[in-house]
Amino acid sequence: MQIFHYVDGRLFAEDLSLEDVAAEYGTPAYVYSRRAVERHWHAYDAAFTGRDHLICYAVKANGNLAVLNLLAQLGSGFDIVSGGELQRVLRAGGEAGKVVFSGVGKTRAELHLALEAGIKCFNVESRGELRLLEAVAAEAGVTAPVSIRVNPDVDADTHPYIATGLKENKFGIPIREARDVYAEAGDLPHLAVTGIDCHIGSQITGLGPYRDALERVMVLAGELAVAGFELRHIDAGGGLGISYRDECPPSAEALVETICEAVPDTGLELLIEPGRSIVGNAGVLLTSVLYLKESGGKHFAVVDAAMNDLLRPSLYDAWQAILPVAVAADVEPRHYDVVGPVCESGDFLGLDRRLALREGDLLAVAGAGAYGFCMSSNYNARPRAAEIMVDGGRGHLIRQRETMDDLMRGEAVLPLERE
Ligand code: LLP
Repeated sequence: MQIFHYVDGRLFAEDLSLEDVAAEYGTPAYVYSRRAVERHWHAYDAAFTGRDHLICYAVKANGNLAVLNLLAQLGSGFDIVSGGELQRVLRAGGEAGKVVFSGVGKTRAELHLALEAGIKCFNVESRGELRLLEAVAAEAGVTAPVSIRVNPDVDADTHPYIATGLKENKFGIPIREARDVYAEAGDLPHLAVTGIDCHIGSQITGLGPYRDALERVMVLAGELAVAGFELRHIDAGGGLGISYRDECPPSAEALVETICEAVPDTGLELLIEPGRSIVGNAGVLLTSVLYLKESGGKHFAVVDAAMNDLLRPSLYDAWQAILPVAVAADVEPRHYDVVGPVCESGDFLGLDRRLALREGDLLAVAGAGAYGFCMSSNYNARPRAAEIMVDGGRGHLIRQRETMDDLMRGEAVLPLERE
């Protein structure tokens, strides 16, 4: 069954009408489906049946505690990129022993925190990080499990801002240098080499880049084995795309099959770090039409969600479907630019969309479960939206809409007397 679907012209999330959600919680609001999140996670898990594996959900895609808690209950691991994400995972009931830590700029404090928590692996992205991790582990009197994140120099054929596996990107260690870096890691007494990691980009819509990257990773794995390293896992990263418009990304099953083919079953554990493909199509952004206006021969629908709520269209020129929450059969459709209240011409959710609209109508921006709320800001002193998780016929408020007090917390004016 489709998660977001129409019943008599009214859009539902699972068994709950989005009109009811808007009436209860207001707009703008992010609405997620529990069923969808779980279904997408299970698709990966089932595809790995028979192989030792760990799905490390990429927290950055959607770090709401309720989302993380659902995944923790399924037994998921997590891919984090900051100490903050680690704390979210732990607060949500995730196991530190199933956490991998990626990112090019881990601080001493973050390394310390993660060591103390006892995470599964540090995906190290530079020699400097390797040396700092050795120092922090020595101070703490522990051994740090490490993987080197290698940059395989493959083209993931995606938006340049989210391609990460080309040699000119800041991520990972060039695969040609990786052997030397592993040799250095092997000599450091407080590091234990446990795996190889790569992540080549996001919104990837073909399997070729994965095949190419893993082929290179497996050549390295062979060289490391000869050099005496006993690897325990291969981490293939995340990045599988979803269909926003007319993209046809491979299924989770097809990706897992490709990974299993590329990494022969010699007992190595397989890790993946999917984010978008688990939560992206499990969420919509619900918004109300404030005004319809015409200017310069163009029609604008000014809605109450803006680029501060959903940055992807403005930042990446990303296209996300905009759906009527109640189909208005009696209204003439027009081509609208759907724009927000923020004072920038780049503030839009969608351009040139054919919609039949009246002021006060509700719209749902699809594909908003990943990189939606988590990239939102308070620009223009706009409180961030509420988040609601639908479970069957019930909605649960999983994050309150921010208040003005939330926005101004921690700010202070200067004392009255001047220096
Ligand atoms: N692992 C690492 C090391 C990553 O950097 C990322 C995403 C992932 C896993 C998860 O990738 P996914 O499966 O979600 O594609 N804000 C952008 C996407 C940025 C992705 C950054 N890294 C967007 O809205 O399209």
